[in-house]
Amino acid sequence: VEKEEPYVIAFSQCMMDDVWRQAMMLEMNIEASNYDNIRIVIADAKESNETQIKQIQQFIDQKVDVLIISPNQSDSITPIAVEAYRKGIPTIIVDRKIGSEEYTAYVGGDSYEIGRIAGEYASAFLPENATIAEVWGTKLSSPAQERHLGFINGLKKKNVNIKTVVGNWRREIAKKEVSQLEDFNDIDLVYAHNDVMALGAREAISERDSALVSKIIFLGVDAAFGKGAGLEAVANGLLNASFLYPSGGDQVIRVAMKILNKEQTDKKYILNTAVVEKNTARTLLLQSDQLINYQNRIEQQKRNIDMLFQKFSMLRHSLFLILSL
Ligand code: FRU
Repeated sequence: VEKEEPYVIAFSQCMMDDVWRQAMMLEMNIEASNYDNIRIVIADAKESNETQIKQIQQFIDQKVDVLIISPNQSDSITPIAVEAYRKGIPTIIVDRKIGSEEYTAYVGGDSYEIGRIAGEYASAFLPENATIAEVWGTKLSSPAQERHLGFINGLKKKNVNIKTVVGNWRREIAKKEVSQLEDFNDIDLVYAHNDVMALGAREAISERDSALVSKIIFLGVDAAFGKGAGLEAVANGLLNASFLYPSGGDQVIRVAMKILNKEQTDKKYILNTAVVEKNTARTLLLQSDQLINYQNRIEQQKRNIDMLFQKFSMLRHSLFLILSL
C-alpha cells in the first residue's frame, strides 16, 4: 500500500500575521481534512509586493497543481498572477482582486455591498451634519476601495463630513494615525475597513478622552473569530457592529478540488455578508469554539492514522526482510 504523491496546492498569502487570515487558514485546513490526496504549501509575503511576486514565480517554476493567490496590492500582483494563468497553472484569486480577468476562479466577499450596508446602517445613528472618521485599509487594495465607495453610496444623510485616516489594515497603524487627528470631539461615528483598525481607532480615542468612546459608534468589517478579532470585540461591546467578510478558506479548497477532479468551475464565487451585532456575535463565537474543537480532534486522529500507517510500513518491511533471508 504505497501512498500516491499528493497534489500540491500552493497558496501565496499576502500576510499571515493577522486574525482574519488565521481564521482563513483554519477554514482551509478544516476543508482540506476531507481529502488525503492534497498537500497545501504556503508562502507568506509579509505585506511586500516584491516578496509575493518572487514567491509566485517560484510556484510557477515548481509547476504546482493549483495556485491560490491573495494579492497584497492589486496592480502590482496582476502581471505575475496572469503569467501563472497563461502558463497553464489553474489560478484561484481569493479576497483581494487583481486587475485582470485572466484567472480560473475568484473567491471572496462583496466588499462594495459590505460598504453599502455599513453606510445604510450608519445612517440610522447619524445626526444632521455628522462627522465620520473613516479608517482605510491599504489604499491600493481592492477591498479598501470598494468598502469606501459602497459606504459613500450607502449613506442616507446629507452634508456628512468625513475625516480620512489610512490604517493599512493594521490595528497599530490605525491607532497611531487616529491619535494624530487634531480633534475627536466632533466625531459621531468611526467606520473602519476592518475590525482590528476600528479597535485601534477606539484605543487612540479612549487614551486621549476615555469618556468620549461611549458617545461614538464604532463599526468594523470582518467579524472574524479568534483572540483580538471582531466577533469578540462586538460581543464585548467594544464595537457596535461588524459586517461579516467571510474568509472563503473552505470554498477556495473546494474549488481547488473541483479543478483537480477536472470538474467545471464558476468564474466567481461571491460570499454573503450579514450585520453582526452583540447577540449574533455571541452565538457565532460559541459556534466557532466548537468548530475549533472538532478540528483539533480530527487533526489528532489524522496524526494517529499516519503513525499507524508508518508502523504498518515498518512491519511490512521487516517481514519482507525476514522472508527474504
Ligand atoms: C486581513 C484583512 C482583513 C480584510 C482583508 C481585506 O489581512 O486586512 O481584515 O478584510 O484583509 O483584504
